[in-house]
Amino acid sequence: MKILVTGSSGLIGSEVVVYFSQRGHQIVGVDNNQRAVFFGPQGDTRWNQQRLQSSLKNYTHIELDIRDRQGVLALMNKEKPDAIVHTAAQPSHDRAAAIPFEDFDTNANGTHNLLEAVRRSCPESPFVHMSTNKVYGDAPNLIKLEEQATRWDYADPAYADGIAETFTIDQSKHSLFGASKVAADIMVQEYGRYFNIPTCCLRGGCLTGPNHSGVELHGFLSYLIRCNLEQKEYKIYGYKGKQVRDNIHSLDVARFIEAFINAPRVGEVYNLGGGKENSISILEAFALAEQLTGLPQVYSYLDDNRIGDHICYYSNLHKMKLHYPQWNITKNLETTFSEIIASWRTRL
Ligand SMILES: NC(=O)c1ccc[n+]([C@@H]2O[C@H](COP(=O)([O-])OP(=O)(O)OC[C@H]3O[C@@H](n4cnc5c(N)ncnc54)[C@H](O)[C@@H]3O)[C@@H](O)[C@H]2O)c1
Repeated sequence: MKILVTGSSGLIGSEVVVYFSQRGHQIVGVDNNQRAVFFGPQGDTRWNQQRLQSSLKNYTHIELDIRDRQGVLALMNKEKPDAIVHTAAQPSHDRAAAIPFEDFDTNANGTHNLLEAVRRSCPESPFVHMSTNKVYGDAPNLIKLEEQATRWDYADPAYADGIAETFTIDQSKHSLFGASKVAADIMVQEYGRYFNIPTCCLRGGCLTGPNHSGVELHGFLSYLIRCNLEQKEYKIYGYKGKQVRDNIHSLDVARFIEAFINAPRVGEVYNLGGGKENSISILEAFALAEQLTGLPQVYSYLDDNRIGDHICYYSNLHKMKLHYPQWNITKNLETTFSEIIASWRTRL
């Protein structure tokens, strides 16, 4: 297959590139290092682009901004890929308010450019879109919670296995990022249902892995571990540091994308996360990082939580496992932490 991957120098994009390249597919990657514009030099992804270009024979890099409508239409028409994996985005909840136009132009309009290009040039090709659990806004915070020693957890048994795809996306606070991602998510579903294109939205929890260029505003575990290794202060924003996230290794993300491309469905939505087993609070993440690096975590605590931040979120994986029973989580938290530590040790 020829697979077009947008955001190919980012965390998920690069993992997808390597994964499919190792299986003999031809990969066209699209990335313009916009992450360095969004987050400054610390978010620079050129190192990852160069790694892909120097190590993979069947990889072509295209320097293109997905906001460039004519460029996107022309590229799709030229390449006519067998599958599209769309991971390019302005990915930060907090950053969006400072750059609202860039955020919406990238996340909503950029996605629309790609969908329309696919409809015109290769409507039979599966289109996998990286969405986010922020499409649910802060509505998960309305679920009854219980406070435990090191974490918050759901007190309502209806959520014992986490949040499912049926959860409301409406009438809650999303952040501008969440709103631009809702627009993209609905458009991806619509191009599926209306035009019968095999599309899906993967509503990610915390996606992580050794190739993340984690920064304070995006990439929780990667950034937390970097702070631990550099003995730099990590700031906790509210919720007593007991806020819970489910983490999924980017390899398990790539494996699910492969399962979907091999047996695509139309206009689907999946909550893609590590599930309850791979959920961890900030305090628990400090403890695990300390145990694995032998270094104490230096941190400070600010009372104010980030606007709209989830207190407790983990994904219900039932639908993913029902539709794709051969897929499961293969990397637990300890393995994922160890890989991120090893990667930062080489890169820092
Ligand atoms: N990492 C997470 O925890 C997480 C969680 C939920 C959802 N997601 C979603 O998954 C996707 C991938 O996230 P990631 O963590 O790999 O992000 P990332 O920032 O590491 O990668 C995104 C890549 O897209 C590129 N890019 C951004 N704007 C572009 C543009 N206009 N044109 C071309 N390239 C552009 C960036 O340079 C970057 O390399 C995003 O849609 C994000 O919203 C991520």
